[in-house]
Amino acid sequence: MGRHERIAELVHLDRPGLEVADLGAGQGRTVRAMLHAATPPARVHAVDAASGLDDEVLHDARVRSLLADLDEPLPFADASLDRAVSLNVAEHLADPTRHLAECYRVLRPGGLLVLAHSDWDTALFASPDDALTRLLVDRFVSTVPRHAERADGFMGRKLLGLATRSEFELVSADTWADCHRRFDQGSVSWKIAMGVLAATKDDPELSARATTWVEGLGQLAAEGKFLFAVTDVALVLRRPAS
Ligand SMILES: C[S@@+](CC[C@H](N)C(=O)[O-])C[C@H]1O[C@@H](n2cnc3c(N)ncnc32)[C@H](O)[C@@H]1O
Repeated sequence: MGRHERIAELVHLDRPGLEVADLGAGQGRTVRAMLHAATPPARVHAVDAASGLDDEVLHDARVRSLLADLDEPLPFADASLDRAVSLNVAEHLADPTRHLAECYRVLRPGGLLVLAHSDWDTALFASPDDALTRLLVDRFVSTVPRHAERADGFMGRKLLGLATRSEFELVSADTWADCHRRFDQGSVSWKIAMGVLAATKDDPELSARATTWVEGLGQLAAEGKFLFAVTDVALVLRRPAS
């Protein structure tokens, strides 16, 4: 089971008619997984700063695409949602604590938030050069990518601390390794490797070594020996019923 299907299970779509928001929906992979659940939600609000939903998701009548800045108050009335998802977004936000407070505000009493994040410092690459991999992963997690204002490669392990400072009650805390064996262009592993490469751009010598490293990953993949994994952390948080 992949990351988005696991998240959809944690959303606990346990009755018909639920109203759900995916905060920082990206291309809509989690939205799609929820729509394929045994009891899909009646409505999914896919919220993001940018419009990245793929066509299949966008054309589903149950999906409402909302462009909004998650550093601002959420575009929902108090106690208006049954479920919310925040996956791989917190590291980009100015104030993740305020993000949780906003999620609390918009959830109905008894409503659930799935707060989940990959912990990029745990990125595992099968590579011919372990020492270089360690160096590159360190560089990757300490570099803010060009497309983001901020990033935190250790966010996964910080979620529990965030949750305990909120008004939510903790229902469950899970971790798993999101594992990939392909390294085709556009694959998850390839995108992360491109992020690693981009993080070396201001260091020509390391950048040249990183380029060779990426070629090595491609070679391993061609031989069926490639593996990429990252630890995901997922909390289910409940707004108390009363
Ligand atoms: C790493 S992607 C995760 C997307 C999706 N949750 C997933 O796991 O596939 C982060 C998403 O958060 C969005 N995002 C980051 N900061 C945001 C902000 N301040 N307001 C709204 N969306 C934001 C980005 O546009 C991007 O789509």
